[in-house]
Amino acid sequence: MDNQAFEMHGESIPSSSKTAEWPKKEERKSSCSLMKIFLVCLLACVITTAIGVLVLSLIYTESIGFIQRTVVKNDDTTSQAPVEKEVDIKFRFLNQLGKSKVHRFPGGDIQWARFRNDVNEYESVEEMEFGKSINNFRSKMTFGTLRIKSNGLRVPHWHFNANEHGYLLKGTAWVGVVDADDSVVTTYNVTAGQVIFFPRNTLHWIKNIGKEECLFLLFFTTHEELKTLDVDDAFFSTPEDIAARALKPQGGVNFIRTFKKQTEDQAINLPPNLQELVQNASYVQSPDNLVWRYFYDLKGSSEYPFPGGIFQWARYRINGTGLNETEKIFSESLNKHENTLTLATLRIFSNGLGQPHFHFNANEMGYVISGCGKVGVIASDVTTNFNIDIGDVIFFPVGSQHYIKSVCDEDLFLILAYSTGNQLETLRMNDYFHATADHILAQIFFKEQNEFKKIPKASKKSGK
Ligand SMILES: *[C@@H]1O[C@H](CO)[C@@H](O)[C@H](O)[C@H]1NC(C)=O
Ligand SMILES: *[C@@H]1O[C@H](CO)[C@@H](O)[C@H](O)[C@H]1NC(C)=O
Ligand SMILES: *[C@@H]1O[C@H](CO)[C@@H](O)[C@H](O)[C@H]1NC(C)=O
Ligand SMILES: *[C@@H]1O[C@H](CO)[C@@H](O)[C@H](O)[C@H]1NC(C)=O
Repeated sequence: MDNQAFEMHGESIPSSSKTAEWPKKEERKSSCSLMKIFLVCLLACVITTAIGVLVLSLIYTESIGFIQRTVVKNDDTTSQAPVEKEVDIKFRFLNQLGKSKVHRFPGGDIQWARFRNDVNEYESVEEMEFGKSINNFRSKMTFGTLRIKSNGLRVPHWHFNANEHGYLLKGTAWVGVVDADDSVVTTYNVTAGQVIFFPRNTLHWIKNIGKEECLFLLFFTTHEELKTLDVDDAFFSTPEDIAARALKPQGGVNFIRTFKKQTEDQAINLPPNLQELVQNASYVQSPDNLVWRYFYDLKGSSEYPFPGGIFQWARYRINGTGLNETEKIFSESLNKHENTLTLATLRIFSNGLGQPHFHFNANEMGYVISGCGKVGVIASDVTTNFNIDIGDVIFFPVGSQHYIKSVCDEDLFLILAYSTGNQLETLRMNDYFHATADHILAQIFFKEQNEFKKIPKASKKSGK
C-alpha cells in the first residue's frame, strides 16, 4: 500500500466502511461537482456561440463587401472607387509578346510567353492569363524568341524537361549539338527559314556567325517552367578539385582556379575583347547523316497549297514515300524521341482564310511573323474573336475550333507548332457539315432539308 499510484486511486473510490455521519458531506461534494460540470458546459456553450457569431459576422461582412464591390462595378461610370481590372478572356489564347519583358544579356536577349510558378514574375495580368491558360490546358508548349547579336553566343546548355524546336527567322548561326554516350558532336551552319531540333538534355550551343542579328523563334515541349543548365554555371558550381580531376588540365587545380566567373549572366555571351580571346575559329560541318537529325530546310521543303494560302511542314511522316534523303533522316529522328512537335509555316494570302477546324490530337501554338489577321476560338467553355499582329503568340487548345483570317494587304505569315510527333488529325467545318446527313442538319437548324444543297462540297485539296 506504499504504492502512491494505488493510494491516490484508492482515495477517489467511495468507501463503504464510512459511518452514517458522512453521507451528507458526500452529497454536498457530489452536488458541488455537478455544479462544476454545469458551469464548464455553460462556459463551453458561451464560447462556441461566441465563435459561431464571430464567424457568421465575418462571412456576412465579406458577402456585403462583395455585393458592394459588384454594385460599384455595375455603376463605375459615376463611382471613383478603384475597380479590379477584368482580364479579357482572349488573353487565354493570345500573348502580345512584344509587350513582355526583354531579358537582356551581353550578346542578345530573350522574351517569353510562358507559365510562371511565381505569379509575381508575370509582367501583367494579360501575360498571367496566358501563362495560366497554357498550363491549365496542359499545352506541352512554351514559346520564346532568342536574339543573338553578331558574334554573340548562346552558351552551351541543356534543358532538363523539354525538347526544343526552333525556326531561324533571320541571320546565320553555327549550331552544335552533343549527344550522349560517345559524345558525337553535330555542327551545322543554319540559315534563315530552317528548323532546329534539340532533343531533351542534348547539350547545344548557337553562335551567330553572320553580320546581322539572328532571330530564333523557339518552342519548348513543356507547359511548366523550363529547366535549363548552362555549361559555365555547371563549371562554377563544381568544386575546383573535382573539376581538376575531371578535366585533367596542365597545372591541375591551379589552372582551374584561374577561371573567373563574370558578374553579369552570360547566357548569351559576347566578351568585349572577343578578338583577343579567339584567334582561330573554324565552323566545320558534320556529315549529312548526322546533320539532318537536328535540322530541316523548312523553307526549301514541299509546299501544300489550300484555297487561302500555303502550308509547309517539318514533321514526322508515317509514309516516307516522296521524302528525299535528308527529309527522311529528320522524320525518323523526330519519331525516335518522345513528345516532339510538328512545326509548320502558314502563309495566308491577303484577305485569305484558314477555315474553321480543330485538331483531335494536338494543341497548337503560333507566332505572327508578318501581316495581320483575325482569329476566332471556340473552346469548351468560352468563345472569343480577336485581332493578331506581328509579334503576337496564339494558342489553340486541343479540340477547340479555330480559324485564322488575313485582314491586311500583305500576306499573313506564321510559324506554328502542334503538340504531336505523330500525324496531325484535323477536321474542318465544311467537312463535318458534309459528313452530317442533311436531314440531321434540317432537324438541328429548323431549316428545310433542301436548303442544305446550297452548301457546296469542298474541293479535296487540303493543307496537309
Ligand atoms: C559556315 O559559315 C562560316 C562562316 O560564314 C563559313 O566560313 C563556313 O565555310 C560555313 N560552312 C559551310 C559548310 O557552309
Ligand atoms: C586553326 O584551326 C584548325 C582547325 O581546327 C587547325 O587545323 C589549325 O592548325 C589551327 N591553326 C592554328 C594556328 O592554331
Ligand atoms: C531535300 O529537301 C530539302 C527540303 O526539305 C531540300 O532543301 C534539299 O535540297 C533536298 N535534297 C535533295 C538532295 O534534293
Ligand atoms: C505512301 O504514299 C504514296 C503516295 O505518296 C502511296 O502511293 C503509297 O501507297 C503510300 N504507302 C503506304 C504504305 O501507305
